[in-house]
Amino acid sequence: MKQDEIRRVLIIGAGTMGQQIAWQCAAHGCDVVLYDVAAPALENALRQLNDYAAELSAQGFLTTDQCEAARRRITTTTDPRTAAQEIDLISESVPEDPKLKGKVFAQFNALCPPRTIFTTNTSTLVPPQFARASGRPDRLLALHFHPPVWAHNIVDVMPHKGTDPEVTACVLDFARRIGQMPIHLKRENHSYVFNTMFSPVNREALTLAANGVASIEEIDRAWMGIMEMSIGPFGLMDLVGLDTVWHISHYWARRVFFMRQLKKNADFLKSYVDRGWLGVKSGHGFYSYPNPVFQRPDFIRSNQ
Ligand SMILES: NC(=O)c1ccc[n+]([C@@H]2O[C@H](COP(=O)([O-])OP(=O)(O)OC[C@H]3O[C@@H](n4cnc5c(N)ncnc54)[C@H](O)[C@@H]3O)[C@@H](O)[C@H]2O)c1
Repeated sequence: MKQDEIRRVLIIGAGTMGQQIAWQCAAHGCDVVLYDVAAPALENALRQLNDYAAELSAQGFLTTDQCEAARRRITTTTDPRTAAQEIDLISESVPEDPKLKGKVFAQFNALCPPRTIFTTNTSTLVPPQFARASGRPDRLLALHFHPPVWAHNIVDVMPHKGTDPEVTACVLDFARRIGQMPIHLKRENHSYVFNTMFSPVNREALTLAANGVASIEEIDRAWMGIMEMSIGPFGLMDLVGLDTVWHISHYWARRVFFMRQLKKNADFLKSYVDRGWLGVKSGHGFYSYPNPVFQRPDFIRSNQ
């Protein structure tokens, strides 16, 4: 299959990432089916898609006509059979759990045409953890986006040993076609490229907060002031979604037994998730949204 034969894309999971990937593909001319097990997730996704359209046309990135055309290309469904029809490529964004991802790919392996390419947006897992369960390991690889997808247009493309090189080449071309700059990994690596570099920063930021060394604002302030960044680790975790960050921290805390601090950090995150404070998506996380305090000019610049 050639990249220009990828016309119809199925996004599985309509949460933070599924919505954004759906938008990116539709804005670049693909027909997109957005599938989720939860109808409210699809309703929320449709509201978000309208917000993206309004935001991107207000910022002059796309015209109103282009936004409307993109919106018309996206359909939603909770029915897996409808979702799978005539699909060329799947982008999976369900929660970070290898068993769940394997189950979802197995389900769609039975429903999709043989040509369909399966990609996963997992943040820290690797394709072999669910390649066999997918039923088509040779057509499975990771295509990992960074939010906001249209702004941080870097995508990791990570095949595993069993991926057909022609499938990888096709996905690399497809990534370019949807306005992304692909980073091609030569071997499997949990957390890919950027996240491998940034995860230790997140982990140490959480350690500082969980151990009561400094407040969340002070930790972000130090990072933003010195690195001249507009957002710190806690602001970024709010953007990702604290439930997703907790899933990842909890998963690794159970595997890296010698690091008790990882469990402490996961418990610290859980205390937010249990209160429904999930970050930007719920309006409250480490900060309150909209207009979080870290975006105020005086957050890192003294008036003196
Ligand atoms: N949030 C980020 O910034 C980010 C960035 C890159 C990668 N990722 C990865 O993307 C994946 C999704 O993360 P997210 O933040 O979008 O999660 P999310 O919790 O916002 O959304 C997950 C969605 O999957 C749906 N879902 C659950 N089980 C399902 C099933 N069996 N079939 C179909 N849909 C199902 C849920 O209803 C929910 O709408 C994870 O693997 C995560 O590690 C997240």
